[in-house]
Amino acid sequence: MENSFEQKLRPRRMRINENVRAMVRETNISVKDFVYPIFVVPGENIKEEIPSMPGCYHLSVDKAVELAREISALGIPSVEVFGLPEYKDAIGSSAWDMTSPVQRAIQAIKAKVPELVIVGDVCLCQYTDHGHCGELCGHYVDNDATLKHLQKVAVSQAEAGADMIAPSDMMDGRVAAIRQALDDKGFINTSIMSYAVKYASGYYGPFRDAADSAPQFGDRRAYQMDPANSREAMKEVELDLAEGADIIMVKPALAYLDVVRQVRDSINRPVAVYNVSGEYAMVKAAAANGWIDEKRIVLETLTSMKRAGADIIITYHAIDAAKWLRG
Ligand code: PBG
Ligand code: ZN
Repeated sequence: MENSFEQKLRPRRMRINENVRAMVRETNISVKDFVYPIFVVPGENIKEEIPSMPGCYHLSVDKAVELAREISALGIPSVEVFGLPEYKDAIGSSAWDMTSPVQRAIQAIKAKVPELVIVGDVCLCQYTDHGHCGELCGHYVDNDATLKHLQKVAVSQAEAGADMIAPSDMMDGRVAAIRQALDDKGFINTSIMSYAVKYASGYYGPFRDAADSAPQFGDRRAYQMDPANSREAMKEVELDLAEGADIIMVKPALAYLDVVRQVRDSINRPVAVYNVSGEYAMVKAAAANGWIDEKRIVLETLTSMKRAGADIIITYHAIDAAKWLRG
């Protein structure tokens, strides 16, 4: 059949087969982009699946080390360590207890799998008996009192062997406070990956079950960001960079890719995204029902995060994706 007009511009030429598509592909995801989050718990020989996050586990320190070996063998460069403590109190003091699961896991992984970049999540909500991310004054989270605790958490994780400190609490001034505390103790090469742009999001639901960190009253809207705001995101980024953040994170990822793009275009530092628990749980639930093709959806979603400008993707899909990318 003849064209009714002269067709010279044919974008389909560049899609003609997989090798051509690969030659012109603008975005490639790599196993080296991933950080895999793990949840460590007290005890030994424990590996229990988290119900709302199929494929993710509560791990005792010994099992966490085993998994860390597998993660490293897959080529994933980094793990982020979260933990459930043995005790909780009003100020979350088990967060800086060197005998808590997080500190012991960091120590053990650093000893046995030294090449793995260990990120320590710094917050208090898993450690306070009220579930808020800081010390309370009435029902208000006292910003500056909390900073002192966060400094101790960061130093304890650095002492345990963490390479990077990732504060997720959303207190004002925490990056400067943590940088100061690390430097004072001589940890000048311990970097800070700031959860700079962290929204008050419904997507954290499964994580709060997994980490037993849901607030016992109210919510986190007085410290985490309003999902409606992107100019405010740029303000948070600006402050955290001025305070010494090495990497800027946007969290959650999928519903905030516009913000990721905006941040990427306006700074010259690495940008990370956190592909959070609710995003993971939705994919796993739909896949378990046979409603979506899990591999295809996951790789497409991770590609979208990279395309939006993320250099680093913290994701519970990291292990599966690493295997799929290896082919
Ligand atoms: C703790 C913290 C949360 C997440 C990471 N660190 C939860 C929260 O702020 O309530 C969420 C991670 C996820 O949903 O995967 N401040
Ligand atoms: Zn918290």
